[in-house]
Amino acid sequence: NSNISVGLLGLGTVGSGVINLIENHQEELVHELGCGVNVKGVLVRNLDKTRDVNINPEYLTTNPEDVLNNPEIDVVIEVMGGIEEARNHILKAFAAKKHVVTANKDLIALHGAELHQAASENKCDLLYEASVAGGIPILRGLSDGLVADKIQKVMGIVNGTTNYILTKMDDEGVPYDDALKEAQELGFAEADPTADVEGLDAARKMAILARLAFSTPVDLNDVEVSGISDLELTDFQYGKKLGFTMKLIGIANFDNNQVEVSVQPVFLKSDHPLANVKNEYNAVYVNGEAVGETMFYGPGAGSLPTATAVMSDVVSVIKNKLLGVNGHRFTKPRFEKVLKKPENRYGQ
Ligand code: NDP
Ligand code: HSE
Repeated sequence: NSNISVGLLGLGTVGSGVINLIENHQEELVHELGCGVNVKGVLVRNLDKTRDVNINPEYLTTNPEDVLNNPEIDVVIEVMGGIEEARNHILKAFAAKKHVVTANKDLIALHGAELHQAASENKCDLLYEASVAGGIPILRGLSDGLVADKIQKVMGIVNGTTNYILTKMDDEGVPYDDALKEAQELGFAEADPTADVEGLDAARKMAILARLAFSTPVDLNDVEVSGISDLELTDFQYGKKLGFTMKLIGIANFDNNQVEVSVQPVFLKSDHPLANVKNEYNAVYVNGEAVGETMFYGPGAGSLPTATAVMSDVVSVIKNKLLGVNGHRFTKPRFEKVLKKPENRYGQ
């Protein structure tokens, strides 16, 4: 098969991760798809910025049409953030019959229904695994893995920035402002971190999770939200003395045919598994009637982890919409023989 070309809207933390992954994991992609993946256009705001990523400068553009109406591009990856501009670009991409993968929870939480409608009218895919919990395949877990179950509750830590701040304040006594600055420097925070620290980013993710888990529309306004910006180091010191750790917890509950969704700081017993989810890591419990309790855990923000989620959607679109290939991985091993006798790890 000839290579598939994708275009990016945005080349920041997540966009650069996607370029890195496409470059460094091309062999895995070829193995899975039977063809390679190329990047043929990248929308940015500033062409003069120094970029720590290996991209042919000819592909950088400030004109969205170079991506959205580029006949070579089959899949548009929206990783620019924001709402109105991103929404318009995605609608144009569908009109041009391009599939869309996005990491944008702000947009999906607000305009998900409209975008799904536009996608289906144009027979295109819209996937957004990276929009919730970064590198954790939680949306796929809910929509594929647990699809036959009745989900009763989804609960956990779904914002990396606030979990990073809370961890630093609790474990190391780092003041709030310094911890936030570190989270921004590490690329975890939103362009405007107010959405992170006031709980809005987590609320958007909980709305997306609740919609998927309970198959009912959940509006952002339906989510009860409070953030962490008022917390002080003394709160953590008192909590620690009493054996508690503060976490920003999202809960979506389905009870008596009613959905209740909230995001708020909660003191957890320090030996609770969620109390031990540190830094930018996220963890989400999903309770299903048949499966019981499951837990999804992993990096909830950051360049490469988020890029893996983006690329999982890209691969899914390519397999299901562009190539119609399935199960390649199991029918044709990539290596001849790589088995090694396990070492004796007794006592480790
Ligand atoms: P960044 O701010 O790092 O990057 C944004 C990129 O988009 C930049 O390359 C910027 O161009 C470009 N851009 C922004 N606005 C415009 C515009 N109007 N026209 C053209 N280009 C534009 O953001 P992130 O990579 O951190 O986040 C991107 C998306 O992914 C957001 O929706 C975010 O919520 C989501 N996300 C982020 C995660 C993370 O860990 N950071 C994790 C999961 C999801 P330029 O470089 O020229 O400034
Ligand atoms: N700002 C977000 C967070 C990025 O910190 O969780 C991942 O969605």
